[in-house]
Parts: sequence; C-alpha cells; structure tokens
Amino acid sequence: MTLVKFQNIMSNEIAKRAFFSRPPEPPADVLISDPFRAIYIGNTSIFKVPFNWSFLNLTNPHIAIVGITGAGKSFLVKTFLRRASYIWNTNAIIIDWAGEYKRWVEQTRGKVVSLAKGDSLNLLDLSGMKPLDRTKQIMNSLDILTDISMYPEQKRLTEEAIEQAYTNTGFILYEAPPEGKEPPTLKEVISLLQENLTEGTYQYPAELENSIYRLRQFAREGEDYFSKKSTLDLGLLTKSGLVDMDLSGLPDDKFRALAALFILQTVKEKMRAEGWTETKGLRALVVLDEAWKVASDDKSDAITIVREARKYGFGLIVASQNPTDVNEAIFSNVGTTFILRIKFEKFMNYLQGSMGFSDFIRGEIGRFGVGEAAVKMDFTSAINFPQTFIIGKVSGEEPLYVYKLDLSDVLTQAELSAKLVQPEYQLEKEELRDKLIEYNMGGDILKEIFAAFDSNKEQLKSLDFIRLLKSSGVQGNDIVSFLKSLSIDDVIIIRIMSYTGGDNAQP
Ligand SMILES: Nc1ncnc2c1ncn2[C@@H]1O[C@H](COP(=O)(O)OP(=O)(O)OP(=O)(O)O)[C@@H](O)[C@H]1O
Ligand SMILES: [Mg+2]
Repeated sequence: MTLVKFQNIMSNEIAKRAFFSRPPEPPADVLISDPFRAIYIGNTSIFKVPFNWSFLNLTNPHIAIVGITGAGKSFLVKTFLRRASYIWNTNAIIIDWAGEYKRWVEQTRGKVVSLAKGDSLNLLDLSGMKPLDRTKQIMNSLDILTDISMYPEQKRLTEEAIEQAYTNTGFILYEAPPEGKEPPTLKEVISLLQENLTEGTYQYPAELENSIYRLRQFAREGEDYFSKKSTLDLGLLTKSGLVDMDLSGLPDDKFRALAALFILQTVKEKMRAEGWTETKGLRALVVLDEAWKVASDDKSDAITIVREARKYGFGLIVASQNPTDVNEAIFSNVGTTFILRIKFEKFMNYLQGSMGFSDFIRGEIGRFGVGEAAVKMDFTSAINFPQTFIIGKVSGEEPLYVYKLDLSDVLTQAELSAKLVQPEYQLEKEELRDKLIEYNMGGDILKEIFAAFDSNKEQLKSLDFIRLLKSSGVQGNDIVSFLKSLSIDDVIIIRIMSYTGGDNAQP
C-alpha cells in the first residue's frame, strides 16, 4: 500500500518536486495531539500517523465538509459528534434538511424534533432575548428568504407590527423578557396589519396587503408550524445532548431555511449570552447538512458565526454536496475543511482556488473512495508544513464493535471444505443496527440482539440469531429480506428458515 502510494507520487512530476522540497504531511506532534483532548479521525495516507482533531491551535472550531453523494459526509459527522460527546461532553444540534440523521439520533437515544410532524416553533419565541433583538433577527430571515428588502415601506410596516405584537402582549422591547411569559405569534402580527388595513386610514393600502401576503405564507391553516406555540424549549437546545431538528416534513426549502436560520440565531444568542472559557472545551456542535440558502447567503448567521471565530464556544459544521452552495466566506474562515470525493471539475476548480491545495492533492481527491478525505487546517501560528493532507479513511467505530454472524451451523461439511459458501459475515455494529431497523427490527429487540452478541464474544451462530429474532416476534419476510441484504445465498436462507421452525416466507 505504502509502495503504491509512493509510486503514485513519483510518477507525478509536480508532486515529486513538492515532495522533496517540503514534508508532505504536517509533523506528528501536530497531528497526534493529546488523545484525551482530541477526536481521532483516521490515519494519514503517507506516513500512517493517527490524526487527532483538536481546535486548540486552530483559528476556530468550525468545520466545512464537502463531497459527492455517498462520499461519507454524514458518516464523518456522526463519528465526529459521537467522539466529541465522549471527549468534551459536547452537545449537538443537527439541522437535518432531509431527515437523514433521524434514525441514528433515535438509536443514540437523542431527541428528535420533527417540525410539521407534530412539532412546531414559534418564530416570535424569545428564549431570553430582548424583543427588539428578536425582531431584528426575524427581519433578517425575511431579508434572506423573501423579496422584502426591495420594499422599504413593507419592511418598516412588518417590523413595526412585530414590535407592536410584543408590546401588546406586555413585553418591553429593549428589556429581557420575564421568565415564563408567553410571546405572541405571527398570527397576531398579521392581525395587526389586517386591522390597519381595515381602518382604511393608511395611505398605501397595497403596501399593507403585500406585507400581509408575505407573512401569511408562514401562517396558513395546516402550515402554521411557525405561528403557534413552540413544542420545545429553545433555551435548552444547547444543553440537551444530541438533538435532531428534522426539517424533512416541512413543505419546501423556504420553510426549511426559515427554521434553520431561526435555530442558528437562537443558538448563537444563547452562546453569546453564556460566554466562553477555554477550559470548557466544545460546548455544542451545530450541524448544517445540505442547508442551501443558509450556508450561501451573505446575511446568514452561518457566515457571522464562522467570521466571529472562537468566541462562542461552539462549532458549526457545514456539510454540502455542492461546494458552490457554500459561501466563499465559510471556506476561507473555517478552521478545518474536509474534502471527500469530488467529481466535477467545476467544483474542484472552485475548491482549489479557494483553498490553494496542490495539484497532487487535487488528483488524489478525484480518485478518493468512500471515507477518504483531504483535510485542510488553519493554524493560529505560522507553520512550515503543508496545510492540506490526506486521511486514508475516516475511521468509524472501534474495531471492537464488529459482530460476526456464523453460518457454519447450517453449512454442510462439503460446503465448508470446498469453500464455496461464505461461512461468516462480519458486520460493523452501526451497520447492523441500521440494517435491522431498515427491516423492521428496531426497539427492544436491538438491545437483546446486541446483548446476545456481546455475551458470545461478538459472534452468534446463524440459527441462534434467527431464533432470537423469531421469538421476539419479527416477521419471517423481514428476516428473509434482512438475510438477503447481507447477500446470503437463497439456498442457505431457505435452510436457515426451515431449521428454525419453518415459515412460509420464501426468499
Ligand atoms: N469512512 C467510512 N467508513 C466506512 N463506511 C463509510 C465511511 N464513510 C461512509 N461510509 C458508508 O457509505 C455510505 C454513504 O455515506 P454517507 O451517508 O455518509 O454519504 P454522504 O456523503 O452523506 O451522502 P449524501 O450526500 O447522499 O448524504 C453509508 O452507508 C456509510 O455508512
Ligand atoms: Mg449525507
């Protein structure tokens, strides 16, 4: 492996020169850090040095991750969150555009908030903020997501109506809200504008009508997830362990972006209010996966956060398939960038232009397999080694968590000795968990299955395993589909099913 890599380098003239003029990877003391205060990511590709990520000597803890679909962005995020939680007790909030973390979060015993599927957020919620500041944030979101900036009069009317709604409910605009006091909702704001229109004294009724129309899209009957009482305490968001804000149920990207901006604003304010001390480590990580406008618009808090560097004590992780959807300011300001596999020249040019990695690294990125990554870090002090280096593979769970399904109990002696059939299947714990859930074997059965593996030196005979599933009430068809998904031969599956008491389900 090392040899092949070396030849690769030697066959590339530019890289060859680079290789001899300066070291190709940061020195070991930078990469290894203190494993008790850093997150293990994987081994470097050339010298196989274990790379432990820490933000202590970086410009900030924020991270950008890019790569094509299936390259391993979410896998990296999950690994990262889990380890950060272990090392620093870091809380995490995932702004989950497509709902792709939901299952994982449920299984990790985190909290899932499914907007539009039962959960709602009141956009006027203050969570400790002064009504005046919250009003500015709402206006900022409307600026990003609607055409309001083109209509100064409508902007003024809307802003005034929001402030009025707070005042009418007994809040003082420039004072922190009293504990437990219920804020108004967007519906009250719309009513105020409506009253104004009905009175008929305002000289530009069309401006009022348009202001109402703009807000109404977020308060329609059945789509009023942002205009009724919040189902969660936003003030606790940064202290609740792992929280998945599942936005996939919202009607479109505009709604999702509104929710994402709102969550970012709230978290930022919380962090600002609480202040930051070095010894606390990373208090929270906020993940923005495929967050479209939120990561691209200049006015978005995602940009403010990465620009304002370390002072908040939390890290923002922005992941995207399309690097051009991520604002340039994010790439140039985050302390760490992970580039997974990239295919399009256009994207590669953009990244190389913005990050300035070598043509050698560029060539490697194009050939990456799943989980391989180029890492770029921005150090606080001057360095004399390359900023960008390659990780052979982002490492998942510890090897300890590999489970074996032993099929020797259903194979004949002839099959075993002829080595025609695979006698055992190895499954990484997370992968097994995901698969079992996919085939309807979630909940308590999972715990039982893992306990059985754990008490049998991480392996189970196929018949014991299937009996366990059957006794827990798992359907025959689900078991068959699961076994098929492991690419076990149909003949063997039939055998397993009949040995375990028969079942009508056929592969
Ligand atoms: N480093 C890795 N080691 C082992 N398996 C990995 C690794 N990275 C990714 N995988 C596996 O590859 C598959 C795709 O990974 P993942 O879902 O993270 O991709 P993605 O970049 O988030 O894609 P998308 O843009 O479609 O969300 C998953 O099944 C995941 O478990
Ligand atoms: Mg993903």
